[in-house]
Amino acid sequence: MAAVKKYVFGKPYDTYAIEKDIPTESVIGGPSEAGVIKEFKIDYVSNIGPDNADGIRFERALADEDIVYGLGETMHGMNKRGHEYISYNTDDPHHKDTTRSLYGSHNFLLIGDKFGVFFDTPSRVVFNIDVNDSKIVEVIAETDSLRLYIFTGDGCYDIVKKFRNMIGKSFIPPLWAFGFCQSRWGYKTAEDVSEVVDKYRQANIPLDSVCMDIDYMDRYIDFTINEKRFPNFTDYVFEMKKKGIHLVPIIDAGVKVEPGNEVYEEGVKNGFFCTNHENKPFKAAVWPGMTHFPDVFQPEARKWFGSKYKKLTDCGIEGFWNDMNEPAIFYSEYSKKQPFWDWVLSFLSKSWAERHASKESNAYKDYKNFYHLINGERVLHQKVHNLYGGLLTQAAGEGLSEIMDRRFLLFSRSSYIGAHRYGGIWTGDNNSCWEHLAVNVCQMASLNMCGFVYTGADTGGFGGNASRELLLRWLAFSDFTPLMRDHSCLGTRKQECYQFGDTEAFRKVVNLRYRLIPYIYSEFVKAVLNDEMYMRPLHFDYPDDPKCKYIDDQLMVGGDLMIAPVITKDADGRKVYLPEDMTVVRFDGTNFICNEMQAGEHEITVPGHEVVFFIKKNHAIPVTVNTVQSTMDMDITDVRLIGDGESYCQYVDDGITRDIRPENIVVLHKP
Ligand code: GLC
Repeated sequence: MAAVKKYVFGKPYDTYAIEKDIPTESVIGGPSEAGVIKEFKIDYVSNIGPDNADGIRFERALADEDIVYGLGETMHGMNKRGHEYISYNTDDPHHKDTTRSLYGSHNFLLIGDKFGVFFDTPSRVVFNIDVNDSKIVEVIAETDSLRLYIFTGDGCYDIVKKFRNMIGKSFIPPLWAFGFCQSRWGYKTAEDVSEVVDKYRQANIPLDSVCMDIDYMDRYIDFTINEKRFPNFTDYVFEMKKKGIHLVPIIDAGVKVEPGNEVYEEGVKNGFFCTNHENKPFKAAVWPGMTHFPDVFQPEARKWFGSKYKKLTDCGIEGFWNDMNEPAIFYSEYSKKQPFWDWVLSFLSKSWAERHASKESNAYKDYKNFYHLINGERVLHQKVHNLYGGLLTQAAGEGLSEIMDRRFLLFSRSSYIGAHRYGGIWTGDNNSCWEHLAVNVCQMASLNMCGFVYTGADTGGFGGNASRELLLRWLAFSDFTPLMRDHSCLGTRKQECYQFGDTEAFRKVVNLRYRLIPYIYSEFVKAVLNDEMYMRPLHFDYPDDPKCKYIDDQLMVGGDLMIAPVITKDADGRKVYLPEDMTVVRFDGTNFICNEMQAGEHEITVPGHEVVFFIKKNHAIPVTVNTVQSTMDMDITDVRLIGDGESYCQYVDDGITRDIRPENIVVLHKP
C-alpha cells in the first residue's frame, strides 16, 4: 500500500503546501465517486457556514484509544478530542477555551497511530473532534474543491515524517536567531532601543536581538524609517551589530494609501493590490489608516512586494517579522459610514483591548468585498482566506533569498502549511496568564507536526501584566523553543528581564539558553534535514508506554532531551513522569548538576530561578564551556558533553551559510 495517497475533489486552488507531486489516486467529481476513500464516509453538503456554501463532509469513527493529534496552532491539549476547531485565520488575542480559530490554519490530523490526513484547502474548514463524546471526527470543508492526502506509516512519528517529507524542508534562520530576543510594542526611538540593550548588558543577561515594532516607521508606512526617531539608521544598525545585537523590524500587510508613498503608487499602477467588487483596490484601515493589501496570489505581486525588503536590508537589517497578515482589518470603507477621521479618533481613544473587541474589526462582511487575481480569474477572498498570510511570508522569504547572500530571520503571525518553508511563525497575541503558557507547550508539538519548527510564543504574554513568577517560568520553557522572544503590548507592565527587581534569577535562566545553544541549534537543523520534529509528545518516542499517551505538559526536545516545565502558579515543583531512567540536570548559573533518576513518577522541586531538564539514558548533549553576552561571542564547537552517554553528533557550521549539509555533522566523544 502506498504510504501517501492523493485524492482530488473538484477543481481546487493551488495552495503550494505540498511540495512533492505524486500521482492522484482518484479525481472525485461528485457524490457517487466519494466512496473510493476508505478512511472516511463522505457526503456533499449545502448551505453551510457563514457563506451558505456548498461543501464536503468527512466522517470517521474513533476508537476509544485513538488520540487525535495535529491542527498546529489551536487551543486545548495535544490530543484534540472533545472540541470544535475552525480553520479560519483570525486575529484573536483574547483566546480562551471556547476559541475555535487562531492566527494560522494547519489542516493536518493524525488519527491514532492509524493514519494522517491533510485537508488541503484555503477555505474555511470546521473540525468536530469527538465533540460531546460523539466518538467521531467530523470535518466539514466549506468548499466543493480540495486535495485530500492520506499518510500511513509505522506509528505516529513515522506518519508525521511522511507528511513532513511531502511538504518540504522547514525554514532555517541564522544562528543568532536562536539567541534571546527582546521586544515590546512601545520602543519608539533609537534611545529606547539602546536603553534596552544597555540595561541587558549591564545586568549581564545575554541578548541577541531587539524587535522594532510599528513606531520605527514613518506613520506606520511599510518600508520607511522615521528619521527623527531613528536618525542615521544604517549607522545605528551597524553600531548595534558591533554590540552583538540584530534589529528586527516589523512589516505589516497593509500599504498606506497616500500619494507619494512609492509602494502604494507602484502597486496601484501595476494592479498588484487586492480589489473590491468594483475591481478597484480594496481599502481598509489598519495602523497607518487606509491601506491596500498586496495581492500575493499574483506571482508578480509577490516578487514585487518581496523586493521591497531591500530598502531595509540595504541598511544592514537581516531579520523581519510580518504582522497583521490574516489580514487583520480594523474596518473598511464599506463597513464604516462615519466620517473617516472621526472614526479614527474614536478608535484610537479606545484601549487596545476595546479596539480588538469592537465589532468592526475583522468583520466577515469586509472579507466578502475583497478579491484576488488567481491565474487571471477574480476570486473572492473568502474562498482562499487562509492562504493570504502564508503567501505574504512566501513573498518576503523569496524576496530576501534573492536580496541576501546569507540566511535571514523571518517570522510571521498568520500562516498556512507551506509557509513553513519560507519563515517561522510566532503564535500571535496571547496574554500574561498561566493558561496561555500551558497552551504554548501543546502548540509547540502540534506546530512541529505541521512543519513549523522555528516557532515560539510571546514569552511572558503580550496582553496583560506579567508577574515576575510567570515571566520566569515562561522563560524557563522558552529556553527550549527555537524562537525565544519576550514581547509585550503597549500599556502593559514593562516586561524586560531587568524590570522585576533582582536580576540574578533571570540571568541564570537566560544563561542556560545560551549554554544550550550548540544543542538547540544542532537538533533544530538535524530535525529539519530529516523531516523530524524538534519538539514532540512523549508518546512519539515511547509508543508502547501507556502512561506517555496523555501527557500534555512534558515534551521531548531534539533526540536526547525531555522537559517538564512548571506551568502553574505558586508551585515549588511538579510531578514528572520518566518513561525510562534518565539523567536529571539542574543548572545553578555556572554548573550543570547531573544525577541519575529512575523511570517512573517523581515529585521534583523546581524553585523559580531554576530550570530542570532530563537527558535520555546513554545520551549526552553538548553545552558551551563559557557564558557569553550574545551568539557573536559564542564558539559552538567549544563544548563539553553532559549526560551519561559517551558521544553526540553535532551539526556545526558558521551559522549564516545557506549551504546546510548533512556532512557538517561531527561526532563528539567524551574525553
Ligand atoms: C499586533 C501584533 C503585535 C504587535 C502589535 C503592534 O497586535 O500581533 O505583536 O506588537 O500588532 O504592531
